[in-house]
Order: sequence, then C-alpha cells, then structure tokens
Amino acid sequence: MPLCDTLIRNAHIMDGSSGEPSVGDVAIEGRHICDVGSASDYDAQQVIDGSGHVLAPGFIDVHTHDDTNVIRTPDMLPKLSQGVTTVIVGNCGISAAPVQLAGVPPDPMNLLGTADVFRYPTFHSYVEAIQQAQPAVNVAALVGHTSLRNNHMDRLDRAATAAEIERMQAQLSEALDNGALGLSSGLAYLSANAAPTEEVLALVGMLAAAGAIYTTHMRTETEGILDAMNEAFRIGRQASVPVVISHLKCAGIANWGRSGEVLHALDEARAAQPVGCDCYPYAAGSSTLDLRQVDERVEIMITWCEPHPEMAGRTLAQIATSWSVEQIEAARRLQPAGAIYHSISEEDMRRILTHPATMIGSDGLPNDPLPHPRLWGTFPRVLGRYSRELKLFPMTMAVHKMTGMPAARFGLADRGLIKQGYCADLVLFNPETVRDTATFISPISPAEGIAAVWVNGVLSYREGASTGQRGGRFLPRQSPQI
Ligand code: ZN
Ligand code: CU
Repeated sequence: MPLCDTLIRNAHIMDGSSGEPSVGDVAIEGRHICDVGSASDYDAQQVIDGSGHVLAPGFIDVHTHDDTNVIRTPDMLPKLSQGVTTVIVGNCGISAAPVQLAGVPPDPMNLLGTADVFRYPTFHSYVEAIQQAQPAVNVAALVGHTSLRNNHMDRLDRAATAAEIERMQAQLSEALDNGALGLSSGLAYLSANAAPTEEVLALVGMLAAAGAIYTTHMRTETEGILDAMNEAFRIGRQASVPVVISHLKCAGIANWGRSGEVLHALDEARAAQPVGCDCYPYAAGSSTLDLRQVDERVEIMITWCEPHPEMAGRTLAQIATSWSVEQIEAARRLQPAGAIYHSISEEDMRRILTHPATMIGSDGLPNDPLPHPRLWGTFPRVLGRYSRELKLFPMTMAVHKMTGMPAARFGLADRGLIKQGYCADLVLFNPETVRDTATFISPISPAEGIAAVWVNGVLSYREGASTGQRGGRFLPRQSPQI
C-alpha cells in the first residue's frame, strides 16, 4: 500500500476550476497533494472522513490589509477560520514595505497600524520577517504607490518630481527582485490623488518586464467612476500589464443603479486587455473617515476615533445630534477616525459579485477594534448567503472565484486547484451549514461550517479552533496566467 500523511475520504471535491464536483479522496504527502480521485488504498498517518462535506482549494483573499498582522498575529484566525489559506497584502496603495516613515503614517497607511509597526525599509526585510513569523496563511505582497510616495516626498498633495519618481522606481525594483506581485494604487485618497496618471505609469511601466500586475483602488468610485476605470485600463494598456480593479462598487447614492454600465465598461476592456476585479459581499464599505463621503442620507458608523475614542460604535448622525452640529462638522472633529459607510446598493453589489471576472476579496481591516464584518465573514457569506441561499451562482462558481480564478490572475502557480502535485492548501466545509456569523453589531465572530483547513499540508484549523500548527509561507511572484 502506498504511504501518505493525510487522506481525506469521500468528499465532494470542488477542484477550483468551476467544473462539476465529484466524490472522491485526496491524499496529502508533505506539502503537496499526491493523489486525487480514488486514493482509498493509501496507508495514511491521518484519515479524515469528508463525507457530506465539500473539499475545495484553500481560499485566496485577493484584497487584504493584513500586511503587519501576518507578522504580529501570525495565527491569522479571522482568515483561517473562513478557509482562507493565502492573503494578498499591500492593496489600495498602502503596503508595510518598503517603508521608511518620517513621522506618523499618513491616511490611509494608518489602517496598517501605528508608526512602530512599520519596520521594513526594504521589501527583502519584509519577506524575512514573514519567513521568521511563519504565519498560519501564505502571504503574497503588492507594493503600495502611496507608501513609495510617502518614502520620498515631503508632502503628498502634489505630483512627484522626476527625481522622486526615480527613487520610487529604485524601491519598486528592489521589491520586484525580491518577489513582489506588483504595484497597487489608492488614487482616491488624498495621499495619492494629486498623482497624475503619468506618475503611476512611470511605476507601472516597470511591471511588464517583471511579469507583475497592477491593482487599483481607483481615483473615484462615485460619479466619475467610468473615467476612473478608463484611467486604470489606459495605464494597463500603455504598460502592457494586467489590471485588477479593487473592490469594484458604485459608491454613493447618486451612483446607485450604475453597475450595468460599469460592468459593460469592464467587459469592453476585457475584450482588449487582461482585466479583472474583486468585490466583497456587503452593501457597505469601510476605511478611514473621509469628509468627502459624508452624506446625511448615508448611515456612517464610527469604528475608531483618536480624539474621541468613546464615539466608536455610534453613528455620525447620533454624534452630530449630541454635539448639536452638522454631520460634516462632527466628522471634522472626529478625525482621524475609521468609518463604515452604508453607501452601496445591495442590487449593484450582487450584480458585480456575480460577474464572471469578479474574484472575492475581503478588504478586511484587522486593526480596527470594531471591524466591518467582512474581516471575518466574507468567504462563508459568499458560499452560504449568496450561493446557497440566494442562488446567485452555483457553489462551484463561488469556489472558483476564491481559488482557481485568483491563482491564475495573480500567478500563484501550484495553488488554487485540487490537482496532483499542487500545494496542499485545502478547506473542508459543510455546504449545507457554511455561513458567516459576523455582523455590523458583533463583527468579531468566526464562520460556521468550516470543518478543517490545511495550509501547505499542515492541518491548521479544525472544528472551530486553530490547531496551533502554522504552515504559511511567503509566495514570491510568478507571472500571471491571464
Ligand atoms: Zn481600497
Ligand atoms: Cu483595501
């Protein structure tokens, strides 16, 4: 009888390709899947009965802000408990590396933590820190445009000079040499909004030769969204680089109902160049408190606040009333602060989530004391609420959006599929009961229905708890396949 470490028997295998599931066995030897199908004649150290459960590739969270958390809180329970086995960090223009701070981190780099957690002046030093911490999940990393700007500019409300761009390019080059996936931008934020397209292009222009990717929190997600999409596509076309639009949404009440137009623009671009997007399954966004997004018709909840920490958990409307001021004035007094904006229409979100180019990304904010529930709930919510209950798409498609599709788009070779020789990142879940339990009121709450999670062959989560074994690695760039 052949030997293996782990044998998962009789599971419904959804292999990540979106093809039909099949009942079978999967054998793990070391870090890899050594057999798929009828592997029942293996002599395994550990046998797990998968009957009644789905076995899928571990989920890839393509949009995270876990940059410093993978090192500071390596058990990574918010993600592992959802079946996530890989996080992509460095999104929205903000990354923990390469960073040299002159003072406090500017908005929104403060989402990654306070000044003392920015300890990685080079990308290489960040990779080493991950290897040392050995988090429970794999980590692949983008470099943030805003982080680069902040390293070299005295103020962020202007375009970078040619000399500054050169210094940014040198840092990006070091990062690419050490395995960075590519560049992210956060052009909507005031810390990058003054950057002209040409400044971004000067950096994205370096990515093609490296086979790297460009992701963007676009210049706007409100009225001007089509222009912002065009800017992103133009950058991708001119630089011959694949583009991912981050957390695609129609934000702001004036923009509701435009998902059809937006997806049409996405489809047109897809016909001409490699383009994709990610989305979180909620009708509310979250970031730092932005005065430009204050709208009396939108419910805004404060999640943290430096000058008035006691206001966390209250709405901006309540705070404004108690202070007898307008909401905009209250928002001014609360800064710096974090907020959840209920500014997305459920219908638009569902249409974007369902689109064939859409991957799942949580955009969770792990340093927020009252985080948006997407931090703990995104993946089981797509499986349970949007696939099983509301039937937006088959569960095989939900799994594909979390596994095979992102692995191909970000070039995570040997991951995202259940295939012989692939890395043994796996999740076993109950398709009848899997669901998110995190809510806006009680957001720190693990999913139900996740039976077991393996990361590089290491059983890391079982029946609601970490096993204490951490199998994550830093994943260096390999070229995207689409
Ligand atoms: Zn963003
Ligand atoms: Cu983000």
